[in-house]
Amino acid sequence: MSAHGIVWGPTYSEMLDPSLVPPTLLQGRPNGRDREPTGVDLFGINWRDERGRVRVVRLPTELTGVEANILVLIGKHFPSGSHKIGPAYAALMEAELEEQLRPGSVTLVAPSTGNFAIGAAYVARAKGYEAVVVMPEGLTDERYERVRRYGARVDLIPNGEGDLRELLRLTHERYGGDPSCRALAQFEAMANYRFHRFVTGGSILEAAAGFGDARVAAFVAAPGSAGTLAAGDEIKAHFDDALVVAVEPRESPFLSCSRRGKHRIEGIGDGIVSLIHNVLNTDYAVLVAEEDCLWGLRVIQEGAQVLTRALGVPEGAAESLVDLFGLSGVCNILGAIRVARSLSIPSGRNIVTIATDGFDRYPSAMAGLERESGHIDQAILRLRARLVFSGGEGTGLYDLRGAGEKERLHREKEALWSGLGYPDSYLRAMRSPSFWEEEYARVAEYDRLLREARGALPEEG
Ligand SMILES: Cc1ncc(COP(=O)(O)O)c(C=O)c1O
Repeated sequence: MSAHGIVWGPTYSEMLDPSLVPPTLLQGRPNGRDREPTGVDLFGINWRDERGRVRVVRLPTELTGVEANILVLIGKHFPSGSHKIGPAYAALMEAELEEQLRPGSVTLVAPSTGNFAIGAAYVARAKGYEAVVVMPEGLTDERYERVRRYGARVDLIPNGEGDLRELLRLTHERYGGDPSCRALAQFEAMANYRFHRFVTGGSILEAAAGFGDARVAAFVAAPGSAGTLAAGDEIKAHFDDALVVAVEPRESPFLSCSRRGKHRIEGIGDGIVSLIHNVLNTDYAVLVAEEDCLWGLRVIQEGAQVLTRALGVPEGAAESLVDLFGLSGVCNILGAIRVARSLSIPSGRNIVTIATDGFDRYPSAMAGLERESGHIDQAILRLRARLVFSGGEGTGLYDLRGAGEKERLHREKEALWSGLGYPDSYLRAMRSPSFWEEEYARVAEYDRLLREARGALPEEG
């Protein structure tokens, strides 16, 4: 698989449908967990199980308390443990094809609040690159450990105001002018948009076809880089009445109303409009309190003990949810429930959301909750289960569809990114839907280049 000495991986089409991967490229996949990443592992970058089905869970209505189907795509099975490996892989793949980037020629630099860093470190290792990740201090220990396990160096920066502007500024300042470094810039790289619109969006459409009216009424996701939200563009291209809703921590309602604050839901609510966020397609924002996410995760991890006794979730269903979600996944679920309630989305309609990673990254967050709350017993957990899943009213939805709100979001984006060196003409072009369609159309071009680069291998049909 390393024609011309390079470890290549899957095309965008193969990430959407891995059955298209030529079998010769899958030979020699080693077994075992916690081993060194290899090039063959990159072909596991997709949303599917061993039988080729998109990994999706329909949440029990006893848990959600709403009539609409809430469908959650499960990201923890991606190599490296979260779907953030997809944008890391796609950004590197595009740079290799376009700029002839090769292992040994550059050090990869990945700014991140966690999962992207882990994904980038994994991809770098599998392809033989040196990598440095730029991360804020104070994240959960599990994240730093994972990055180091995959051999990347960690460049820690102060957490400052709790938003990403400092991370972006320091990454540009420290590494921007250095020709021996190449940034895998999730907040800026259109590869992130392409990966999620094509691979995540396509997988969502396929998953939703198996439930209710087979359509998507709303796509709900909490943005960090806003890559995942790009799936909403693909959903809207298929269902023009579908709504796209951004979830934000109540403590940092930046898209909602340009306010920033510190919170503990890692990976989201970063207090910026990322460059790759197509704000034209974001219809609403909904707020979820960090406390509800922490308690929500804690009670889901108790399985039947709490969910069955407090909410009447069938035992098997309650147990099957254990370990599936991280904090942002619970935030997305709570956001989806609030969207269903606020917009009275009826039975038979599908609201889709995402669990970026699983519980394995959050034991230290749960230990923190334990420390703060003192003794936590079953009675407390049952009470919390009712409060978090059946309560949590009060914030409503922020309607971002009007021209005034679009203008505010474009201005926030332009202020940040022109300060980081992006030309005004490029930023202005993003105000037009055609910018996004043209970027998206490049998926086919990269697929062709990659198939050619992989050499005389069987073509997909
Ligand atoms: C745990 C977690 N959830 C959600 C997100 C947000 O995803 P996106 O960057 O695609 O908006 C991230 C991003 O790093 C994350 O790490």
